[in-house]
Amino acid sequence: MKPLYKGKHFVTLQEWDRGEIEKLLEVSYELKKKFHANEVTDLLKNKTSFLMFFEQSTRTRNSMEAGIAQMGGHANFLDTSTMQISHGETGKDTAIILSSYGHAIACRNCFWGEGNAFIREMAENASVPVMNLQCDLYHPMQGLADLMTVKEVKGERENLKLSIIWAYATSHKKPISVPLTQSLLFPRFGYDVVLAHPEGYELPEWVIEQAKKNAEAAGGTFTVTNDMDEAYRDADVVIPKNWGSWASNQSDDVIDEVLEANRHWKCTEEKMALAKDDVSYMHALPADRGNEVEDSVIDGRRSVVYQEAENRLHTAKAVMAMTMGDK
Ligand code: CP
Repeated sequence: MKPLYKGKHFVTLQEWDRGEIEKLLEVSYELKKKFHANEVTDLLKNKTSFLMFFEQSTRTRNSMEAGIAQMGGHANFLDTSTMQISHGETGKDTAIILSSYGHAIACRNCFWGEGNAFIREMAENASVPVMNLQCDLYHPMQGLADLMTVKEVKGERENLKLSIIWAYATSHKKPISVPLTQSLLFPRFGYDVVLAHPEGYELPEWVIEQAKKNAEAAGGTFTVTNDMDEAYRDADVVIPKNWGSWASNQSDDVIDEVLEANRHWKCTEEKMALAKDDVSYMHALPADRGNEVEDSVIDGRRSVVYQEAENRLHTAKAVMAMTMGDK
């Protein structure tokens, strides 16, 4: 398993071409098979990665830590509140120093207007690959696992109707990075992508323009609507998930009038009945159960959320093996 992309940063999938993404998926399937067969995959023996987290995580942290351990390497988990970054040390200095101690730097920083810039500052100064574990704009690890899951459950069909749908939640003001990543990525694989949200939850205009260009180049479509039913109708895959109104309102407040006016944007059995009978329900998790989605949907026969979450492990391992490995 040659590390074909040794040293390449993984900041956004938009900077990886379709062939490279397909190769990452191929490696992910192979590593998944080997994981289930309990086969040794010591592709990162004696390698160290640094995992810097400005925010909480269950899937991302543990898929990275477990993933590198399963490949013979080691991850240093770094809560950034305990690093000198919290006293103002720069991303540049942090990246140069950590590069001299190990073989990759991975970081989650979702602060609006800061996260992506911080990760890019590290990437510009690191001499090892820098991996984005979610920022204010992108969540490429999630996007790759989502694409893997769509292909597993629907096969290699193109022109699937795949709907990214805003949903009501009160848990926290979530970043836009998951729907943004999906909006850019899925049209590149020929899918008919619908982005549905109430007014006030728009993604930035440059994202819509890029998503349309991506669709045009791959023979898919990208449509934006404020009509929730239109998104569910005849869909093959639905991804109803909350995101914050960051593009139009930078306040950290979770609950406001615009949010409360849209409580009805919930994934219910009634909405799912508008979709194809074999529709798949996806969610990056964590889900705000009862608000974003009814339990009977997320726990029901059409839900693939645990498969999607498991795929975070296999895709994270593929990214690490292909960018950090020697063999
Ligand atoms: N989907 C996702 O990134 O989950 P965590 O926030 O738990 O890492």
